[in-house]
Amino acid sequence: MSSSTVYVETYGCQMNVSDSELILGKLADAGYSQVDSPDGADVILVNTCAIRDHAEQRVLGRLGELKRHMKPGAVVGVAGCMAQRLGPRLFDRAKHVSLVIGPDGYRALPDLIERARDGERATAVDFDLEEHYQGFSARRFEGVKAWIPVQRGCDYRCTYCIVPTTRGPERSRPLLDAVREVEQVAEQGITEVVLLGQTVNSYNDGSHDFADLLRAVGRVDGIRRVRFTSPHPNDFSERVIAAMAETPEVCEHVHLPMQSGSSRVLKRMLRRYTREQYFECADRLRAAIPGLGLTTDIIVGFPGESDEDFAETLSAVREIGFNDAYTFKFSAREGTAATRFPSADDVPDNVASERLARLIATMRAGARRANMAALGQRHEVLVEKEARRGGLLQARTRDFKTVIIPGEPSLIGSYVTVELTGTTGSTFTGTVTSERVELPLAG
Ligand code: SAH
Ligand code: SF4
Ligand code: F3S
Repeated sequence: MSSSTVYVETYGCQMNVSDSELILGKLADAGYSQVDSPDGADVILVNTCAIRDHAEQRVLGRLGELKRHMKPGAVVGVAGCMAQRLGPRLFDRAKHVSLVIGPDGYRALPDLIERARDGERATAVDFDLEEHYQGFSARRFEGVKAWIPVQRGCDYRCTYCIVPTTRGPERSRPLLDAVREVEQVAEQGITEVVLLGQTVNSYNDGSHDFADLLRAVGRVDGIRRVRFTSPHPNDFSERVIAAMAETPEVCEHVHLPMQSGSSRVLKRMLRRYTREQYFECADRLRAAIPGLGLTTDIIVGFPGESDEDFAETLSAVREIGFNDAYTFKFSAREGTAATRFPSADDVPDNVASERLARLIATMRAGARRANMAALGQRHEVLVEKEARRGGLLQARTRDFKTVIIPGEPSLIGSYVTVELTGTTGSTFTGTVTSERVELPLAG
């Protein structure tokens, strides 16, 4: 079946994006060619997210739509976190699905597709604690940066979170394997890598910790920017912070999920830090890394969250001065500990919605003030892609600001210096001040 085609659609976090790159690499090796429309594809795969009910509803809706695009005999498969969570139950939800495959099953994907083609309802939802997809050659689409998975699964048990159920226990990929992959992408001319893991700074392969990994990746020839996501506040050891500060390639940006500004709520979330400890963590990072940009994740409407608790989240947002935040309404996930709080603790949906709107307004006001104050600054940016508005380019500073600049698409992938000249509140416009464009090392 060497001429078979596959169409992949991806939902969820960067880990899923990275997994889709691995899936496409595996299938390319098995003779599949990738197509960018489901119409007429021999295999349609949806790589799914289970983090909130809304994410799952979207996927179910999409699976329904895809039925109309299926050609006769096509295999429709569900991969990723929702596949792991629901397993064979998915076959009842969507009768045209004949393949369900969790995040640790992709090595067997070509075989499972064959089995689904032969009429079987093929399922693979076992965790494999050794699996890091070593030997797969990821098909990358991001262009100027590469996702590098360094840790899979999660050993925290935040009471709201489905991820430990969908991705299994935490395991770290051997440092040498991760570094080798970074060397390969550097040879292809990619200059920025993003190290991925659910609590990526708890990385430990038995002989090396995250500090060792940061230093080793920073040393790879041709790598100019190293980022990572998402760290857990409790895993910023002195060693890790020192490695960040002392490795010039590690960018001055940390995505530091806070979840709530109330110690009472944090305790019920089992986040294992208090408001004060979170503040301390942000302070330690800022003291060690001048010019650090901080972004975060926040949940509102967690069971038992009172007006006072929410006020503490707002005050934390004001005091810490995040550059940006992903904000979510709590979504109860089947089987998680948060579903076992008494129903009297439920926050009504209209209250949660109102809190979300106030949180977003507070966040935006703070970011706008900070961004206005940044006008006039000069930054080195990596030109990432064409901007949505025609004729312009989207670029990124080391501290994760988005800057829209004029320029030719040939600049994509290179580093230029810009002056920040305007802001919409969240993103910047800039002008290029350094004509001397430094091109990345050719592969
Ligand atoms: N491992 C990462 C988070 C992964 S999930 C970490 O610990 O930081 C990404 C974000 O989704 C979380 O930070 C949280 O803010 C949000 N989230 C997770 N479960 C949720 C739920 N049940 N309801 C609403 N938001 C949730
Ligand atoms: Fe979920 Fe918590 Fe693990 Fe993050 S650290 S993936 S929020 S259980
Ligand atoms: Fe979603 Fe799974 Fe990522 S649940 S957020 S795709 S780890």
